[in-house]
Amino acid sequence: MEPVKIGLLGLGTVGGGTVNVLKRNAEEIARRAGRSIVISHASARNLNKPRICDTTGIKLTNDPREVVEDPEVQIVVELIGGDTLASEMVMRAIANGKHVVTANKALIAKQGNEIFAAAQKQGVMVAFEAAVAGGIPIIKAIREGLAGNKIEWLAGIINGTGNFILTEMREKGRAFADVLAEAQRLGYAEADPTFDVEGIDAAHKLTILASIAYGVPLQFDKAYTDGITKITRDDVAYAEQLGYRIKHLGISRRTPNGIELRVHPTLIPESRLIANVNGVMNAVLVKGDAVGATLYYGAGAGAEATASAVVADIVDVVRTLTSDPENRVPHLAFQPNQLSNLPILPMEEVETAYYLRLHALDKPGVLADITGIFGEMGISIEAIIQKEQPEGDQHVPIIFLTQRVQERAMNSAIERIEALDAIDGQVARIRLEMLG
Ligand code: HSE
Repeated sequence: MEPVKIGLLGLGTVGGGTVNVLKRNAEEIARRAGRSIVISHASARNLNKPRICDTTGIKLTNDPREVVEDPEVQIVVELIGGDTLASEMVMRAIANGKHVVTANKALIAKQGNEIFAAAQKQGVMVAFEAAVAGGIPIIKAIREGLAGNKIEWLAGIINGTGNFILTEMREKGRAFADVLAEAQRLGYAEADPTFDVEGIDAAHKLTILASIAYGVPLQFDKAYTDGITKITRDDVAYAEQLGYRIKHLGISRRTPNGIELRVHPTLIPESRLIANVNGVMNAVLVKGDAVGATLYYGAGAGAEATASAVVADIVDVVRTLTSDPENRVPHLAFQPNQLSNLPILPMEEVETAYYLRLHALDKPGVLADITGIFGEMGISIEAIIQKEQPEGDQHVPIIFLTQRVQERAMNSAIERIEALDAIDGQVARIRLEMLG
């Protein structure tokens, strides 16, 4: 049988890794797919750049349009990134009747609904395992492996750069900016690293996970995001004293009123496995009603780890080249006409526990004023610690852990506490999840 011909858009880190893995494991991959797979045509913005892969035998161009218009190409692998040129190329490929494999989380999270509708109309597949958590096969696990479950919630460390920063801050007391610069040097960070540290990259990935977990359309615009830039070394140390670790989590939970979709720094008990996922590693916890809690761990970024997911998608597409489009695994796990309109909840309606750090004048009655506000707002306190007065400062840091309460009540309480004369500056808030 003729080899299946791949058109590759992008020869950067993941593109180069994909060429290398497909070449190195060609024989094993052909035995799995039932056909040989070759990259016949590839594009890169700058053809003169040094590469991590050998492109011998591949027709090269700096115009990705030539690849998506190539009649010999059956599967287009989009590894350009971003959501402008990549979007145009993916839509052209689909219009040309080609299957698509992509690692592009921003593209799927923001334009996936339209892309999947176009793909369904054309009877082609759009596979995107590499878009979430790099090499961890989390899409396949939720979409296929957990298909018998009602998914209750999921929570993940789905940005390696952010996890690397928090780990280095905790383990070595390093400063934020210094660690971020190292993540950029190592090639983990996004082209715009604010996507990593402000939680946008994680929100892209969480949006995709929630859609396949609950069978709802992709709604990135409704995701709540809070970054890690305001986390201090003190917060990391205080959390540790209380038995918690701070992780930048993407959390999505099904509630009777709708779906929570939120990315923010989170205190989690240090005894949880996921609290011990360090460095650039990713991990996703998924709770199904039948299976219970399951945990998926691995490299969330990097050339060959991400290529592992890209190549698995290529193999899946090759295996289904001859199958009836109606009987393929649906893009969002549920049949397209069976998606639910369960709403995404506004953050004010989400209920969590909290870690609060505030700076208060060290004088009688201040604590009573603060706890009085908590009492009036129906907020129950789980723990309080007061730290020593820093030299030359009239204020002392006080840390509260609260029980679960709606974000709306906590917002009002924080506003009232910040207005007290005895309080200096803003109240730092980090949400807390037991993940039990
Ligand atoms: N910038 C991303 C991360 C790359 O750090 O996880 C993988 O999506």
